[in-house]
Amino acid sequence: MSIIHKVATRTKGYLSFGGGHGGLSDMPRVRGKVYVNRRGELKIGRNLSIIAKPWPVQLTVVKGAKLTIGDNVLINAGVGIASNLEVTIGNDVKIGPRTSIFDSQYHPLDSSDTGNLCKKIVIEDNVWIGTGCLILPGVRIGRNSVVAAGSTVTRDVPENVVVAGSPAKVLRELQIEKDWIRS
Ligand SMILES: CC(C)(COP(=O)(O)OP(=O)(O)OC[C@H]1O[C@@H](n2cnc3c(N)ncnc32)[C@H](O)[C@@H]1OP(=O)(O)O)[C@@H](O)C(=O)NCCC(=O)NCCS
Repeated sequence: MSIIHKVATRTKGYLSFGGGHGGLSDMPRVRGKVYVNRRGELKIGRNLSIIAKPWPVQLTVVKGAKLTIGDNVLINAGVGIASNLEVTIGNDVKIGPRTSIFDSQYHPLDSSDTGNLCKKIVIEDNVWIGTGCLILPGVRIGRNSVVAAGSTVTRDVPENVVVAGSPAKVLRELQIEKDWIRS
């Protein structure tokens, strides 16, 4: 806990691991390089695994924004997560290689596009996002659902389904027993 405290006090924003319990087993396990650009609030739950080889992983939280990562989350190589407002990732979520998750459009489309560029993203518990997916601003991916490889998620995804394609559409429903966690 003291190490985390030192990091948090030397940098701007707010960083916490393991819901404040602070045991060593709560610390993230990282293989490879992770670039963390954190000016806002980054909360990381217990047992985060990051496989950042052969491609690095990038976590960005701009000033005033929040990125919350739940317990037992797996982040694979080449994943980029950028929070300009709020990104929430639940427990037991798996994120496949080279997937990008960003909650801002970053640029207006044209001069009439004066709306809010940032919309919150929520990825609920036990979701599996496959390789090379794009999770766009404003979406919620429901509990237990699977995003097939190469999908672009532009709209909310219900619980317990597989979605695929660009834009992602529901392929089929999944049979999920109560409290089942994907291995
Ligand atoms: C999610 C996944 C397992 C779905 O498998 P499934 O439900 O068994 O799907 P099926 O193979 O039965 O295919 C069902 C239909 O969806 C289509 N489909 C399957 N995967 C697709 C994809 N990634 N994108 C677009 N369409 C897809 C199939 O072409 C098929 O269409 P059809 O009925 O018109 O022939 C698979 O699509 C996938 O993404 N696998 C890779 C996961 C991955 O990235 N793992 C590595 C790191 S985490």
